[in-house]
Amino acid sequence: MYELVEKSEVFNVHKMVVKAPEIAHSIEAGQFVIVMGSENSERIPLTVSDWNTDTGTITLYVLETGISTLELARMKVGDSLYAVTGPLGSPSEIGNYGTVVFGGGCYGIGAIYPIAKACKEAGNKVISIIEARYSSMFYHEKELHAVSDQVLYASSDGSRGKKGKVEDVITEILEKGVKIDQAFFIGCTQMLERCSEATRPYNIPTRVALNSIMLDGTGMCGACRVSVGGETRFACVDGPEFDGHKVDWKELNQRKSAYTEQETVAYQSYSHGSQVPKVGSA
Ligand SMILES: Cc1cc2nc3c(=O)[nH]c(=O)nc-3n(C[C@H](O)[C@H](O)[C@H](O)COP(=O)(O)OP(=O)(O)OC[C@H]3O[C@@H](n4cnc5c(N)ncnc54)[C@H](O)[C@@H]3O)c2cc1C
Ligand code: FES
Repeated sequence: MYELVEKSEVFNVHKMVVKAPEIAHSIEAGQFVIVMGSENSERIPLTVSDWNTDTGTITLYVLETGISTLELARMKVGDSLYAVTGPLGSPSEIGNYGTVVFGGGCYGIGAIYPIAKACKEAGNKVISIIEARYSSMFYHEKELHAVSDQVLYASSDGSRGKKGKVEDVITEILEKGVKIDQAFFIGCTQMLERCSEATRPYNIPTRVALNSIMLDGTGMCGACRVSVGGETRFACVDGPEFDGHKVDWKELNQRKSAYTEQETVAYQSYSHGSQVPKVGSA
């Protein structure tokens, strides 16, 4: 059903173009799907980075971090995913803000693209800032350049753009006097927190797409519970985007690492040739 029609890889980020016509026709910027590679796989959320209503396809960027993303990474063109459910989550709020900064790291480089594109189409000035460990790890650049007034780079080894992270570039441009009216960040939790702290002293409205653990993705199971501004919210239906200045990062990190031991054992065993364990099996 959900045939993989195109696949490529930049280091351990895998671009997967998947046939999913109904989703391609109804998805909006900021939404995600929940995917199962095979019948026995766990359900994992992935942001839809792009879509094409003519071909009925959606584009996912999958960062290989554990057993389920490795299973997807091993699929070949012509294989089919067992399930792709969506669109899920609330779409991003696209306004006429003025100057909007997007920050993306790891899978977030692909995930910021549709929101940046929608903001550009809404008449905003778009500055995209992307980070990676070194120069050749950047991807989706041509597309990002096409929807951005400026693309700035940060690399850990200094081989491209500023040596450092997205928040270092933001601090630099803010110190130069650039006025930012709205910020969006997608990437690992540490990056989201650091970038939110960088915009806080300047009171820049800051949206972060949270990547809490999700199961059903429809507000029923409570797995994705987060605290934002002292209130309990479900990232799958109330988010995934929230005010980065109000997120309880400590709680989010604790909840995200609840299954680290089991995830590590499953990954090691699968990467050494075992089958994907059945969901619910020990
Ligand atoms: C709304 C949303 C959008 C996302 N978009 C993308 C994307 O576009 N590309 C991408 O590569 N990743 C994305 N993620 C993260 C991705 O879902 C996890 O990396 C993936 O589930 C890890 O599964 P694993 O078995 O490979 O790794 P594991 O070893 O099981 O886990 C590795 C890390 O992923 C987290 N994780 C594990 N299971 C889940 C789960 N069911 N739901 C969420 N997080 C989980 C763990 O807390 C851990 O930090 C998104 C997460 C959310 C919530
Ligand atoms: S994933 Fe179950 S409530 Fe959000």
